[in-house]
Amino acid sequence: MKIVVVNGSMRHGSTWHCADAILQELAKLDPNRQNEVTEFFLPRDMPGFCRGCFSCFYKGEGACPDAAHVSPIVRAIEEADLVVLTSPVYGFDVSGQMKTLLDHLCFMWMSHRPNPAMFHKIGLAVSTTAGMGLGHTVKTMKNSLVYWGVKNAFSFAQPVSAMKWSDVSEKTRSKIQKKAKALALRISRAAARANRRPNPLFRSFLFSLMASMQRGNDWNPTDRAHWEARGWLAGERPF
Ligand SMILES: Cc1cc2nc3c(=O)[nH]c(=O)nc-3n(C[C@H](O)[C@H](O)[C@H](O)COP(=O)(O)O)c2cc1C
Repeated sequence: MKIVVVNGSMRHGSTWHCADAILQELAKLDPNRQNEVTEFFLPRDMPGFCRGCFSCFYKGEGACPDAAHVSPIVRAIEEADLVVLTSPVYGFDVSGQMKTLLDHLCFMWMSHRPNPAMFHKIGLAVSTTAGMGLGHTVKTMKNSLVYWGVKNAFSFAQPVSAMKWSDVSEKTRSKIQKKAKALALRISRAAARANRRPNPLFRSFLFSLMASMQRGNDWNPTDRAHWEARGWLAGERPF
């Protein structure tokens, strides 16, 4: 399985260790030892804020002033079977650097130009907090995964009562280990059944809704051409 991990923090902290525990459990479940992991760290690998220039929407993602940083991440996401987004809770939500990446990838939302490769992928949102804010944080990352079109979106949300990994108690670490093992099993089962799993109803509904919106789209020729070229306005589906 090809895996891409986009870390919304530079720290090899509690969040990174939780994601790593899941990856290690996934590796144990892969009899051929063929898991291939590509990792990005933010803001190092994508330092620029979205300027709100609308270039990605109107001219295409290549016109983004930050395309040189965004494109390699998009390519890695395209090639992966499992897309992992991680962020510690900062002020009850994702880190600013994770939000910046999600802003840069809004052009891939189903309301704009969904990437057909996304519809067969599994998504995973990972977060830790000292105490509160996990629900909101995981939802922010899952929203992007779902609206990019992934087939399954999992989450791993862990309170650690600590500011750094070395302060996380043995009891919490062992809980993380157990949870990581159980989640890795669910993910690997979902991957094994990838082609037999039914399409999520919500996604089918959303895609149809967006297709009917694009049929009347006279405000953004770039988005409309994306849908037309793939036959999606004539009833074709990417899933
Ligand atoms: C800027 C900042 C904001 C934070 N905001 C919250 C918060 O809203 N709620 C909370 O419980 N913990 C908050 N924390 C604590 C972290 O979420 C927590 O320590 C997390 O496990 C750190 O993950 P890391 O080790 O992967 O960096 C914050 C930490 C930082 C640095």
